[in-house]
Amino acid sequence: MATASLKLDDKEYPLPVCNGTEGEKAVDIRKLRADSGYICYDQGYGNTGSCESAITFLDGEKGILRHRGYPIEQLAESSDFVETAYLIIYGELPNATKRKEFGQLLRKSAAIETQMQRIFEGFPKEAPPMAMLSSIVASLAAHYPHLASNNFEQDLANFDLSAAIAMSKIRTIGAMIYRYLSGQPYIFPKWDLPFCDNFLHMMFSEPYEEYVSAPEVARALNLVLLLHADHEQNCSTSTVRMVGSSAANLFTSLSAGICALSGPLHGGANVSVMQMLQSIHDEGDDGTRFIEAAKSGAKGNRLMGFGHAVYRNFDPRAKIIGKACGDVLKKLGINDPLLDIAIKLEGAALKDDYFLSRKLYPNVDFYSGIIMRALGIPVNMFTVIFAIGRTPGWIANWRELAANPKGRIYRPRQLYIGSVKRDYVPMAQRA
Ligand code: ACO
Repeated sequence: MATASLKLDDKEYPLPVCNGTEGEKAVDIRKLRADSGYICYDQGYGNTGSCESAITFLDGEKGILRHRGYPIEQLAESSDFVETAYLIIYGELPNATKRKEFGQLLRKSAAIETQMQRIFEGFPKEAPPMAMLSSIVASLAAHYPHLASNNFEQDLANFDLSAAIAMSKIRTIGAMIYRYLSGQPYIFPKWDLPFCDNFLHMMFSEPYEEYVSAPEVARALNLVLLLHADHEQNCSTSTVRMVGSSAANLFTSLSAGICALSGPLHGGANVSVMQMLQSIHDEGDDGTRFIEAAKSGAKGNRLMGFGHAVYRNFDPRAKIIGKACGDVLKKLGINDPLLDIAIKLEGAALKDDYFLSRKLYPNVDFYSGIIMRALGIPVNMFTVIFAIGRTPGWIANWRELAANPKGRIYRPRQLYIGSVKRDYVPMAQRA
C-alpha cells in the first residue's frame, strides 16, 4: 500500500494513501492526532473526505455527475424520478417486479393520517414552508415510533417501509403545506396516479374540479426532481449523516437535512435566483448592474445561481435543465421574460473575466426556478420541491451510514483561538 509522509517537529509520520474506484486519492489521517498531537485544519471541510460512499461520483473539475455509476445525462434522458430514486437508495436499477413493488409501497404510504393533519393547524398562515416541512417531517418519528427506534439494527430491519414513507409523505406534506398556506382545502392522494402526477393533483385539484396535468408538466417535474435526487456530500446530506451518526432514526435525520437545505446558499438559492431575475425585469435593466455588483466580491451581491462549492466547470445538471427549460416553455406555449433575462445574464457572465477566471458557471438552480414557475409552482415552494427531489439521496446516505459496522459518531475537532485560561471576575469588579 502506498504511503505519504508528513514531517512535523523533525519527526516523520507515515500516512496511508487510499484510492477511490474512480481514481480519487486520499491521505488517511485518522491516526494523525493520536500519533503526533496535530489535527488537520480544513475550515468548511472543503478538503476532507468525511466518509467512504458508493452512491454518487462527482468530479467538479470535469463537470461529471454519476449515480451508482450511471451518468446523470443518461438518467435524465431515459429514467424517471422514482426509478432513479430506487437506483440511488438500493444501488441497482430495479427490474420490472422490483419497480412495481417500490411504486406500490410509495402509493400505500402517500396519505397523511388525521392525527398528523392537525399539526398543520398550529402553524401561522405566514409560516415559511421549509420551517413547516422540517417540523412535520421530524414529527414522523413520533407518528411511527416502531420505525424510528434510534437503534440502527432495528431501524434498518424496517428500512423499506420507512424509506417509502419518507419519500412519499414528504411529497404529500409539501403539497399540503401549499394548500394550507394558501387557505385551500387539502386534496388527498390518489392510488392510481404516478408519483409526480399525484403531487400535481394534490397541489392543484379542487374538491369540485380535477386537475389534469399535461404530460409535459409531469415530465418536467420528473426531470426537476431527478436532477436534484442526490449530490454527494453537500451541506444537507452531510447534515443528515452528521445527525444520523448519533444513531438518530431516518425521519429525524431527514428533518435536519431539510433545515440545512433551507439556507439561501444551498437549496434556497433557486428562490434567490427568481427574486434576482424579477428585480432585473422590474427595473427594466439588462442585468449589467447585477453583474457589476456581483463583481464587487461582497457576499450579499453574488450572482445567484452562479458558482458552486465543488464544480469548477459547468454543473452538468445546469446544462440539462437549461435546455429543458426552453423546451418546456415552448411546449406549454409560455413566453416568460425571466427566461430571456436568464439567457442574457448567462451569456454576459460567461464572457466576463471575473466569472471566467474564478470558474463560476451556472448551477442547477439558475434555470430550475423558471421551469417550476412554468408549472404553476409558487416561488415560496421552490425549496420544498428541491427537498422532495433530494429525499432519495438523503435516505441512501442515511442507510449507508447506518449499515456501516465501522461507523462512528461524527465529531470534528477545532482550532481554538479564544482566551487562554483566566479567573472568574465577580460582577462588582467588571467594567
Ligand atoms: N457571484 C459572484 N462572485 C462569486 C459567486 C457568485 N455567485 N460565487 C463565488 N464568487 C466569487 C467569490 O467572491 C470568490 O471571489 P474571490 O476569489 O475574489 O474572493 C470566488 O468567486 C470563489 O468563491 P468561493 O467563496 O470560494 O466559493 P464557495 O465555494 O465558497 O461558494 C457558493 C460556493 C456558495 C455556491 C457560491 O458560489 C455562491 O454563493 N453562489 C450563489 C448562491 C448559489 O447559487 N447557491 C446554489 C449552490 S448549488 C446548490 O445548492 C444546489
